[in-house]
Amino acid sequence: MQAQARSADLYRRALAQFATGITVVTTRTPAGEPAGITVNSFNSVSLDPPLVLWSLALSARSHDAFRHCQRYLVNVLAADQLDLAKRFAARTGDKFEATAWAPTDSGLPRLEGCVAWFECANRSQYEEGDHVILVGRVESFATARRTPLIFHDGRYVTHLVEAPLPPALRPRA
Ligand SMILES: Cc1cc2nc3c(=O)[nH]c(=O)nc-3n(C[C@H](O)[C@H](O)[C@H](O)COP(=O)(O)O)c2cc1C
Repeated sequence: MQAQARSADLYRRALAQFATGITVVTTRTPAGEPAGITVNSFNSVSLDPPLVLWSLALSARSHDAFRHCQRYLVNVLAADQLDLAKRFAARTGDKFEATAWAPTDSGLPRLEGCVAWFECANRSQYEEGDHVILVGRVESFATARRTPLIFHDGRYVTHLVEAPLPPALRPRA
């Protein structure tokens, strides 16, 4: 049992070596209450059509809200939004009370000050293990020129330093 626990810990540490951005995915419950959760499993699936995915723990309090909603909004956090990452990762408290947000045209909670937003139709779901993968069709998006918040090895990173590359290896603008 101890060996299993240690192996699970090592597995988590290995996964944590993959650096990601951080998002807060928001929606509305059937009763109209705003719901949101901190998520770093967000990624792109397809450009044409524009599809994204993220995975949701079956044990999340907001599980039912996301499983049954028509659409959700992926808010990509900026470096100065660490407090939001922590607040929306908490299992207690009113996440929206102290948060600056406004409803989109379709009523989804849009967090202010983010790097990017992707409004998605809740297209398909695949239950696997202790999570469900949600695939969303991007219906609209927006970006802001800000520095993103990064998550790596259980730590939040707020400064990006560009690698010095010779001209031949630089990505084209
Ligand atoms: C950096 C970070 C990334 C996270 N990514 C995910 C994720 O991709 N999917 C998920 O279900 N939970 C993820 N979580 C955990 C949830 O945010 C956390 O369990 C939260 O309490 C769920 O909220 P709820 O129970 O109110 O729905 C992440 C937490 C942190 C701090």
